[in-house]
Formats: sequence, structure tokens, C-alpha cells
Amino acid sequence: MQPISLARPQLLNAIWAMHDVKGFLDDNDIAQLSTLFGVSAVEIEGVVSFYHFFHRKPSGRHTIYLNNSILSEFSGFEEVKRAFEKETGAALGKVDPTGNFGFYETSCIGLSDQEPAALIDFCPFTELTPQKVKYIVSKLKTGSSAAAICEAPKDHIRYTPPDDRAFIFREFEPGRAIKKLVDLEPQEVFNQIKEAGLMGMGGAFFPTGLKWELCRRNHSNRKFVVCNADEGEPGTFKDRVLLNHEPGLVIEGMILGAYAVGASEGKIYLRAEYRYLKDKIEATIQDFRDRGLLGDDLPAKKPFSFDIKVQLGAGAYVCGEETALLNSMEGLRGEPRTKLYFPVERGYLSKPTIVNNVETFACTARIIELGPQAMLRLGTKESPGTKLISVSGDCERPGVYEIEWGMKLGDFLDLVGAQDPYFIQVSGPSGTSVSMKERGRRISREDLTCGGSFMVFNKNRDVLQILMNFSNFFKHESCGICTPCRAGNFIMNRKLQKIQLGLGSLRDLVDLEDWGKTLKQASRCGLGQMAPNSIIDAIHKFPEYFDSRVDKSGSRLNRGFDMAAAVREYEAAVK
Ligand SMILES: Cc1cc2nc3c(=O)[nH]c(=O)nc-3n(C[C@H](O)[C@H](O)[C@H](O)COP(=O)(O)O)c2cc1C
Ligand code: SF4
Repeated sequence: MQPISLARPQLLNAIWAMHDVKGFLDDNDIAQLSTLFGVSAVEIEGVVSFYHFFHRKPSGRHTIYLNNSILSEFSGFEEVKRAFEKETGAALGKVDPTGNFGFYETSCIGLSDQEPAALIDFCPFTELTPQKVKYIVSKLKTGSSAAAICEAPKDHIRYTPPDDRAFIFREFEPGRAIKKLVDLEPQEVFNQIKEAGLMGMGGAFFPTGLKWELCRRNHSNRKFVVCNADEGEPGTFKDRVLLNHEPGLVIEGMILGAYAVGASEGKIYLRAEYRYLKDKIEATIQDFRDRGLLGDDLPAKKPFSFDIKVQLGAGAYVCGEETALLNSMEGLRGEPRTKLYFPVERGYLSKPTIVNNVETFACTARIIELGPQAMLRLGTKESPGTKLISVSGDCERPGVYEIEWGMKLGDFLDLVGAQDPYFIQVSGPSGTSVSMKERGRRISREDLTCGGSFMVFNKNRDVLQILMNFSNFFKHESCGICTPCRAGNFIMNRKLQKIQLGLGSLRDLVDLEDWGKTLKQASRCGLGQMAPNSIIDAIHKFPEYFDSRVDKSGSRLNRGFDMAAAVREYEAAVK
């Protein structure tokens, strides 16, 4: 193991370093970490057990994680799963008897436009088929490394606004925005961001300039800039594409943020599922240092030093929530904090911190490079600029689209080549479900908001299967710290199961709505608050579907429905 610092924020890195040696941590490792960090073994166990990618038992010389998102399910998850089981000899969730392969399922890995997809030893494998699986496993059995045989995922940037109206995906040269700092006071930077009307692109749409100003106002000897690259919302992969295509643009935005708020340390919290991007991002950071754009005494009107490190996550969707992310960076369980303080007041290590999304930082770099007017001329009055949207599902051209805010839903669906669309999930499972009756709505913050993804499903897809997949996701990803989310997601999941089995009644729909309200009102963080969204939307917007799935009169029982058999089936399913 590399020599490590004993400071608690190094814990995740230390666990990774030990874990990489043999693919799991044994009792000795836990004891060693406990001594090194001066905390109890139970405390270390608590952190290790929180993250999906840390194992306490052998996980195979090669560890396979097959994505189980709904997009994977609809593009062949089952047959690919069977192929892995056959070729490796490892049942799902197990290691094969020779110890060669560990085979697990995992939540969305940000490759929804190239499903079914898997990570093997954290290298990406896309568009899997049983034949492809056979080939991959045979190569691994004969000594190839996963890194040697995987292919870099495609970026699939399908569309940018014509006539020089692209804002993000346009030509980039490192330092163009940073060089402007020699003429700008820190407050002029956030004032320009405010003038452009930029709202955060991570889903909550908080005004970025205001966030930076608030952080500036909090005096401290240390401040931090954090880039949230945890992108775990199923169906969302725009940040992966942006980080792969133009990492420098994101880094440039972080440097501007640091100057504006007075920070000297930056971190990119990169989800472990994107570990294969780490080298490229670090090489870009080094390139910025070599160009004199990162490090000490940077060219700016006020004295300015700043540098960036990459922090790898370890597999937990909730760590995208900014306070959970900060806890994770501090080497704690990635549980959301109670909101006594905003990160701009007490963030990383209790110091003022700005946390922004990958795309947000890219936008700030463009605003300073091109001026606020360049953004204001795009989009609508209330939603200036462009938006990156990840598109997947039943459409001809899945991939990433940069569109101007304000495009009509119907036009967007035509643009992506949507095939007979019926159920469209906007902004991932925690977003909004829309029907084709809403074709005329505009994708904008004032109408149909979009955090960054569209999943298109046609008439042949079963709405309950989609909802069930989403519900399984939330049930699994809930950190469990607050009861409404922990219990509510479980109960809603069981209700959906009941309806799926043909046992649903009108009462169950009402119960789902009631539980949805409880989750929304009483959950500690956005995960629990947003988890019921798609279920409630679906009940309201697809009544014809639920009419055929739910017994509203009791007549099904009267028609000789075998209740006892159905209950047995239900009990077997939920065991
Ligand atoms: C469960 C959950 C997951 C989240 N995941 C992400 C994420 O992966 N990326 C992100 O930028 N924001 C995510 N957010 C939102 C962040 O908490 C935060 O609002 C955002 O990083 C702020 O950046 P912005 O202002 O630039 O949007 C998530 C929120 C919740 C509740
Ligand atoms: S809402 Fe869910 S994920 Fe968020 S803190 Fe509560 S239990 Fe954890």
C-alpha cells in the first residue's frame, strides 16, 4: 500500500488502495485502517459497508458489475446476465468456485445510450450480447486484462444548436477565460455569472452567481471548490460525456469559481463508475499546471493560488446530494447532513465551500470567456442559455444533445427520432413522467424543467415494469437514515408489486399517493422527497393504463379470481 496520511479525509483513498490489492478487505485490513486513522474498527466497518463497491468477502480476481437500470432491462439485461453466469460460472451476487469471477448487478453506470453495459474491474463494456460476453470472458480466462480489451464508451454528441449558437460544445482553448482574471475583481466574476442568469445544472437550479457571492461573503482561512461529478441519476450521462470530451472546460470553470469565492483548494468528486476517466482528468489538471493556469501565483488582478485533486467515490447514488458528498469526502458514511448550514457557510471540513455540477462549471467558463450576453441571447427570457440532455430508450439517436432552453417537447422528440413515444421520463426516476398530451410544453425552467435526461419508452413497454425498476432503485439507494424514506420506499415498492400481480385495487393507488406525500414532506433529503414523483405522475397522467391494471369495482374477485393462489404468488415473490 502507498504511504498514506492519517487524516480522516484520506480514508476513502486508503480503503481503495487496500481494496485494489485483492478485491476485498479482510479483518486485518480493517484493524490496520483502524490503527492508521485512530478510529474504532466499528467506525471503519460503518464506512466500508456504506459503499456498494467495497467488499468484505472475496469478489473474484475479476469483478463484474452489470447495470440493472430499466434501459438495460429493455435492451437485454436478462440474456446478458445468463451469459455471464454461464461463461463465468458465477451466479448473480456470487463468486464462481475457482474465485476467478465475482458477478454483481449495479445501479445505472452512466452508459444508458449503450446498454446493456457492465464494468469489469472498473473498465467499461457496452452494447453487450451473449456472444460478446463469451468473447470477453474467454479473453479474461486466458490472461487478458479488462483494461486491454475494453473499448472507450462513445460520446455520441448528437446535436448542438446551429448558426454558432452552441455554448458548451464549441471550440475550446485552455486559459481563454482564466486570462480575463487579470482585469477582474473576484466580485466581477460572480456578477457576470449573475448577469447571465445561470442556474445550477445539477437539478436544483439554484442561482450560481448568488451561491458564489454567498461563499465569498463568508470569511475563512480556507475555502473549497467542489465539482459534483457523481452523476448517478439513472438515464443521465451528460457529465460523463462532458468530462471525457472537454475536461478542461470544467476545470477552467472551477478555477474561476475559486477566484470568485477566494478558495485555494478544489476537488472533483468522481463517481467510481467513471474511474476510467480519472487518468484523463488528472492529465488535464497537470496540463493546466504546466500552462501556469493551476498552482501558485496565478495571473489575476488579486493574489490567487489554486489547485485541484480528484476524489473517487465508491458507489452510492445518495453521495450526489451535496452534503452527503461532503461527508463522503471527509471519509464518513455518505449520509446527507441535516440542513443546519449551507455548504457555503460550513461545507467541506466545515469551511465555506461551493459545490457545483460539472455542466455548471463548464457554463461559467463560457460566460467569462464570451461575456454574459453570449448566454443571454440563447434560450428564453427566464431560461437563458443551453442545456445538455442525455437521451436514451426507444429512439433512433440516443446520446447527448445540447439544445437551447425553450424547445418544444414534441420538437425534441422528433429531433432524437423517438419511436412511437408513450411514456417519457424527464430528469431520471426522481424527475417527471410526461405523456404525449404534453407535446406542446417547452423544455425550460418555467415549464418542463430538465436536470439532464430524457428516457423515451414506447407503447410496448410496460409502465409498471418501468416504475418497479425505479422503485427498486430508490429502495436500494436510500441511505436509511430517516424513516419516511427507508420505510416509505419499501412500502411503495410492495404496493407496486401487488398491482403487478393483478391484486391491486383503487385503495392501493390512494395509498401510493398518501405515501408519496409522506415521503415528500418528511424525508431529510431530495432522494426521499423525489422518489415518489414518477409513481404519482404515472397514476395521474396514464389513467388508461392503470384502469386496465387495477380493480376499481371488486368485480375481478366476483369473476372467480383465485385469491388464495394470488396471495401465495405474492408471498413467494416478496420473500
Ligand atoms: C439524491 C441526490 C442526488 C444528487 N446527485 C447529483 C449529482 O449526481 N450531480 C449533481 O451535480 N447534483 C446532484 N444532486 C444535487 C446536489 O445536491 C446539488 O444541488 C448540486 O450539486 C449543486 O450544483 P449546481 O448548483 O451546480 O446544480 C443530487 C441531489 C440529490 C438529492
Ligand atoms: S431521504 Fe432517504 S436518502 Fe435522504 S437522508 Fe433520508 S433515508 Fe437517506
